[in-house]
Amino acid sequence: MTKLSRKDVLRSDQFSKDEIDLIMETARAYEKALDAGEVLEDMRGKILSTLFYEPSTRTRLSFEAAMQRLGGQVISVAEAKSSSAAKGESLHDTIRTVDGYADVIVLRHPQIGAAAEAAAATDKPVLNAGDGAGQHPTQALLDLYTILKEQGKVEGLTIALAGDLKNGRTVHSLALLLANYDVRFLFVAPQALHMPQAIVDQVKAQGVEVQQTEDLGEAVRQADVLYMTRIQRERFEDPSEYDQLKDAYILTRAMLAEAKPGLSIMHPLPRVNEIATDVDEFAGAAYFRQAANGIPIRMALLMLAHNAA
Ligand code: CP
Repeated sequence: MTKLSRKDVLRSDQFSKDEIDLIMETARAYEKALDAGEVLEDMRGKILSTLFYEPSTRTRLSFEAAMQRLGGQVISVAEAKSSSAAKGESLHDTIRTVDGYADVIVLRHPQIGAAAEAAAATDKPVLNAGDGAGQHPTQALLDLYTILKEQGKVEGLTIALAGDLKNGRTVHSLALLLANYDVRFLFVAPQALHMPQAIVDQVKAQGVEVQQTEDLGEAVRQADVLYMTRIQRERFEDPSEYDQLKDAYILTRAMLAEAKPGLSIMHPLPRVNEIATDVDEFAGAAYFRQAANGIPIRMALLMLAHNAA
């Protein structure tokens, strides 16, 4: 396989195993080329438009750096209030307009389903950079790439996803992507922030074993990969509920005394206080390496989406 079957990247469960392999292989090739100091021109003459209606550091900057590493150019809206969305323009009309300016569109938006709505308004590829509490598929792909680099494999691993599993689009997409493999999940969340049942049902239907717990210590003892997430203040309607839950899990260096040998600790970032900073020096603390992996993965996705069948 040399092409993706569709132009848009909207959900992590849209990909076949062959497509995931293609994305991983393409990213590896780009990482190797960058490490060798090669100057690439695969997207020369092409323009990426990044439309970010929610805050971002990693996703926006790594998509823009990826496009520039491919020899392409970038036009960007970094916040909704600086675009005509602030005047009441619909997403449909914005995308119809940007269709005339760019070859590829990357969208982050607060509404679940916004990326799919955007994709319906244009023939240009639309890549979902996060749609509210829905999905974040390009993050899941860089997370898989990170697991493969850190652990050397994904098959047979016990993977713990911890924190705000209800609202966390990264964990929604990652669980669905990893369900393509022989993994075992530990979902670690307070009662109020459990993984949505539809996702639990979907991964179980693919034959993946799921254990749900509120005990982060159990995850530290059992996991090969511990994926921490932030409690998402911006998704709570009631600030007092956020205040009750915001310190539910704080991973400390002392807790890692009980970790399995070779534990990888991941986090999509930004972190607030759910990983103490003294964990950063732990050999398996992979979260900043994980953020850097956004470049080769997003180079692969831009090129493959642009060249999709
Ligand atoms: N991981 C992630 O989505 O980070 P940003 O919000 O900084 O893009």
